[in-house]
Amino acid sequence: MTQRVRRPIIAGNWKMYTTPPEGRTLARAIRTQAGELSQVDLVLCPPFTSLSAVAECLQHSTIGLGAQNMHWEMEGTCTGEVSAKMLLTVGCQYVILGHSERRTSFGETDEMVHRKVRTALASGLIPIVCVGETLAQREAGQTDQVVCMQVREALSDLSAVDLVRVVLAYEPVWAIGTGRVATPDQANAVHRRIRALLVELSDEEAAGRIRIQYGGSVKPENAAALLAEPDIDGALVGGASLKADAFLEIARAAVSPRVS
Ligand code: PGA
Repeated sequence: MTQRVRRPIIAGNWKMYTTPPEGRTLARAIRTQAGELSQVDLVLCPPFTSLSAVAECLQHSTIGLGAQNMHWEMEGTCTGEVSAKMLLTVGCQYVILGHSERRTSFGETDEMVHRKVRTALASGLIPIVCVGETLAQREAGQTDQVVCMQVREALSDLSAVDLVRVVLAYEPVWAIGTGRVATPDQANAVHRRIRALLVELSDEEAAGRIRIQYGGSVKPENAAALLAEPDIDGALVGGASLKADAFLEIARAAVSPRVS
């Protein structure tokens, strides 16, 4: 058996699901059963309108709260946007940035993700930075190149202190919401590549502390095998995070001892 070097982090990306009452019900169900999970960081990321309701349910618990996006400015004439200050005020500690659905459907660029990462860190939010290749890029043998470019751009010019606070999420676009999951070997190979890049961007010690989640069709049935990989430090869970039982089963898979 091998010990985990990094504390696992399991985050639920609720996407555009749950009204505030539905969010409350789901958060309560997760909180009630999460008691035994003291060795894993759990984070719930509801839509903006459910953040306050979920924050209330998570009071005095160790479960973290995250948003799914934010603007890089603190305030301004930005219709339809939400700032870091606003997220902090409703109780967020985390924010998902650069999710592929934001990049693909809303035109988010690496440069925008980079600005958001800097603002999040400067404000005291922990960014969960998503990167990942499309199916065409994987089939063209460009996975490492695409993912490394996204990581490099998102994390450029960060101090060592800031860098270790970042959580990365490797989410192959072809695996998100498709039921098609990367094999543990495929996922771990990319995580290893990202970690090697992190050594370049900082040093061995810092790179060894940064957590890299896997995301893309993580389910209770495949979580244990993925999370047993040495460079997979958690999961960013979409569909399966909308069911308390499934989400908690994935979280439990992160704390079971690894067999080497
Ligand atoms: P999925 O979504 O688990 O439904 O594939 C993951 C994500 O988009 O973060």
